[in-house]
Amino acid sequence: MSAALFLVFSCFICIASCLPTHHHPDRIARLPGQPPVDFQQFSGYVSVDEKREKALFYYFVEAEIDPPSKPLVLWLNGGPGCSSIGVGAFSENGPFRPNVEVLLRNEYSWNREANMLYLDTPVGVGFSYSTGASSYETVNDEITAKDNLVFLQKWFLDFPQYRNSSLFITGESYAGHYVPQLANLIIQLNKKKKIINLTGIALGNPLLEFSTDYNSRAEYFWSHGLISDSTYNVFTSGCNYSRYVSEYYRDSVSVLCSRVMSLVNRESSRFVDKYDVTLDVCIPSVLSQSKIIAPHQNSERIDVCVEDEITKYLNRRDVQMALHARLVGVRKWDVCSNILDYDMLDLEIPTISIIGSLVKEGIPVLIYSGDQDSVIPLTGTRTLVHKLAKQLGLNTTVTYRVWFEGQQVGGWTQVYGNILSFGTVRGASHEAPFSQPERSFVLFKSFLSGKPLPLEF
Ligand SMILES: *[C@@H]1O[C@H](CO)[C@@H](O)[C@H](O)[C@H]1NC(C)=O
Ligand SMILES: *[C@@H]1O[C@H](CO)[C@@H](O)[C@H](O)[C@H]1NC(C)=O
Ligand SMILES: *[C@@H]1O[C@H](CO)[C@@H](O)[C@H](O)[C@H]1NC(C)=O
Ligand SMILES: *[C@@H]1O[C@H](CO)[C@@H](O)[C@H](O)[C@H]1NC(C)=O
Repeated sequence: MSAALFLVFSCFICIASCLPTHHHPDRIARLPGQPPVDFQQFSGYVSVDEKREKALFYYFVEAEIDPPSKPLVLWLNGGPGCSSIGVGAFSENGPFRPNVEVLLRNEYSWNREANMLYLDTPVGVGFSYSTGASSYETVNDEITAKDNLVFLQKWFLDFPQYRNSSLFITGESYAGHYVPQLANLIIQLNKKKKIINLTGIALGNPLLEFSTDYNSRAEYFWSHGLISDSTYNVFTSGCNYSRYVSEYYRDSVSVLCSRVMSLVNRESSRFVDKYDVTLDVCIPSVLSQSKIIAPHQNSERIDVCVEDEITKYLNRRDVQMALHARLVGVRKWDVCSNILDYDMLDLEIPTISIIGSLVKEGIPVLIYSGDQDSVIPLTGTRTLVHKLAKQLGLNTTVTYRVWFEGQQVGGWTQVYGNILSFGTVRGASHEAPFSQPERSFVLFKSFLSGKPLPLEF
């Protein structure tokens, strides 16, 4: 009698809370050093090319409360070549941050509002791999987008309960390429048969248009006192930054550009963090996603201390076991890949026009900027969004104004045609959810709800 009761009882518990995913092989029992939590986590590999043995690694964190009712959010970091698990999940908007031997809870984790899916992409990044080393050569935007789409389709086979959830694709920095390009492939696929419920995209400090984005840096440096009047002049009329980067990735830096850049580097100093110009640097440091899109910066990173913690944590054998992760073809896990040979000329592909076509298809877009970032400054981004709205004939539906987080100004926002939004996050770096977690969380929540950023406190 009591045994039977127990059976009935345990079945009930199971149906209510854990049946759909209970036996999933990718379920994480517990991460080393992790505090007890009520939500489930999964991680592992999805094969995107059996022939070349290309496998992408993901980390999936279910929403804290009632996951089936919450949207699914894919988060991608940039580089190209940096890990969304290392940067996004473990230092920006995931539930935990490594601290010495343990994981601390992030109070503003985005899984309070959504089911968060982090993807290491393309192969050669983070724990993602290919056994054919040639797969790391000349990887480009096109291959990355295709692999990301195959990943998503196969991931849905593993997690069918999320198939109909509204999907938001988000990311930062070079994900200004990945996100719109993937969204575009989904739109094409949906035209044949609506199978992925794409509901919106959000991009933080994204690379959208090479010339505008990179050349906004000179004025940002100058207006923040990082360079002198005369250096500003040669950095705009002598050799501008887009010309320098363009020459750099063609291995043909001119004498003029070389001279201008050493002047800029000397004055702006490597002891100021270019991803947050108000912050001190933490020495020593490792490479970051943004260091790759902004070559020869010699700059250190704000969250290098955090990053070092992450590198230590993700290189622990017990952590890799718990994550079902493997090191294939590399000796250790790196925040940004040392083996990926990405086609850097793809930096010059404008993706702002793809954003335009997504808006035309009715996909809401939020583009936001951490306002202390000088790598992809808010000024270039704001100009691009404004120009796009004009091209699309979208009128302003929310005029440029402040928004609030608590009793303080969280930033500024403007909305066009109720579908294309721009927002700044006040006091935030290139990695906004890292440096301003609370404000970024408010931004994220309003983005998911489809409402403008809050005007009251
Ligand atoms: C998703 O929607 C399709 C079509 O409406 C339906 O057949 C399927 O059962 C739904 N799946 C889930 C998991 O809700
Ligand atoms: C897509 O998501 C929205 C919002 O959750 C939902 O109302 C709609 O039914 C979903 N569409 C499909 C085809 O499942
Ligand atoms: C940057 O320099 C290039 C090459 O000299 C030039 O074509 C371009 O117009 C410049 N752009 C800006 C915004 O100054
Ligand atoms: C935008 O504003 C202009 C001028 O007020 C108006 O003529 C036009 O119809 C508006 N467009 C839309 C899409 O509302």
